[in-house]
Amino acid sequence: MTRRILIDPVTRIEGHAKISLRLDDDGHVADAEFHVTEFRGFEKFCEGRTLAEMPGITARICGICPVSHLLASAKAGDAILAVRVPTAADKLRRLMNLGQIVQSHALSFFHLSSPDFLLGWDTPPAQRNVFGLAAQKPELARAGIRLRQFGQEIIEMLGGKKIHPGWAVPGGVRSGVDRAMLDKIKAWLPEAFATTQVGLDLFKGVLDTHAREIETYGNFPSLFMGLVGPRGEWEHHGGKLRFTDSNGQIVADQIDPKQYAALIAEQVQPSSYLKSPYYKPLGPQGGLYRVGPLARLNICSTIGTPRADAELANFRKFGHGGAVTSSFLYHYARLIEILACLERIALYVHDEDLLRDHIRSDAGINHLHGVGVSEAPRGTLIHDYQVDENGLLTKVNLIIATGHNNLAMNRTVAQIARAYVKPGSTEIPEPLLNRIEHGIRCYDPCLSCSTHAVGQMPLIVQLVSPTGAILNTVARD
Ligand code: NI
Ligand code: MG
Repeated sequence: MTRRILIDPVTRIEGHAKISLRLDDDGHVADAEFHVTEFRGFEKFCEGRTLAEMPGITARICGICPVSHLLASAKAGDAILAVRVPTAADKLRRLMNLGQIVQSHALSFFHLSSPDFLLGWDTPPAQRNVFGLAAQKPELARAGIRLRQFGQEIIEMLGGKKIHPGWAVPGGVRSGVDRAMLDKIKAWLPEAFATTQVGLDLFKGVLDTHAREIETYGNFPSLFMGLVGPRGEWEHHGGKLRFTDSNGQIVADQIDPKQYAALIAEQVQPSSYLKSPYYKPLGPQGGLYRVGPLARLNICSTIGTPRADAELANFRKFGHGGAVTSSFLYHYARLIEILACLERIALYVHDEDLLRDHIRSDAGINHLHGVGVSEAPRGTLIHDYQVDENGLLTKVNLIIATGHNNLAMNRTVAQIARAYVKPGSTEIPEPLLNRIEHGIRCYDPCLSCSTHAVGQMPLIVQLVSPTGAILNTVARD
């Protein structure tokens, strides 16, 4: 007889992370499911809209990553117009994406995750947050907030205060930058580098005493997926798709984004609004893959900038010759990516191409199908559009980073639960809740439950038998 810890749909509370843990016959945790309820109906909603509207509409899909949708949508539009995006526009879009990655990674590391490992896993939740961090380490908390502001400043400089939803458009961008704007970013860079180095030193110090977390927070073999450049280098807004395995071997390479459906299938789970994608050739069982910072650092040959590459060499030691397989090291990867972004931004502030006038190419509908792929902070974002001859959307498929990581998040939660749920027990101990929360945070999913900047993630966990009998429920606000 199997039992499971499960979420009762009746007790669902909006904005909470809902976790179910299924036990096997011996009362061990067999698997887990993170129920995602916040991604609803946008694909259908977009049908009948015009291609030009899509960046603005899709930027409203997610309050957490509007920039990523804006950029992926514009790229899908480029493919349908079949235009070459002007150099200035490509670089300006890239600059915005770099700003987005910096601000998002800074929020994830400094605000949301570092209180756990800096203040201690069992510090009361009332203190284990950014306020507790500010009380104990005020300079660190302030520096983290400033680093996030640096990224936001770049986004606002390009897209306007509220991020004009039409800033990126099929064929290019609507407005450029001037020298004064770039100089402002340039003046801020030394502080941004210094804060990133503080974060790196701090996290590397934490690693020595967190062997157990490295071992249990999502440490398992899987595939990794993301964009790479033509020589396999780290990419964030361009290039082609690559899959590697946990031995570090390339499984599929230089896959044109428009061919993604040959390699990625989406499994529908009735309990979730988010589909669970997997690597098609290996099926839903063997085809689990991860995206995002950990994946991007595993799949790339080099990052291509000196400081980030030096850190990458250190990061790879955790892979012992293969891929780095612990999701706890997403945090480390995130910091290295901030460094990579800053080094690229430092090149762009001197790049005269960004000041060119030609920022938009115009064309009519030249293809009836286009796919745009961009690396969001959390991982690969796919926008797949079909249009009619008038440019009205007839079919839309979106695969978001949090979807790609869905199966990996489930496996991570199960692995953590196995370490904390006593076989045969119906207890859901408090230490487990903190650690489940952190296991999810490793992936930095863009869901409102995960991004409460202050305080803990609201969680609901239930223990239910296979016949549906609820054995235990824990709800934490
Ligand atoms: Ni999002
Ligand atoms: Mg989809």
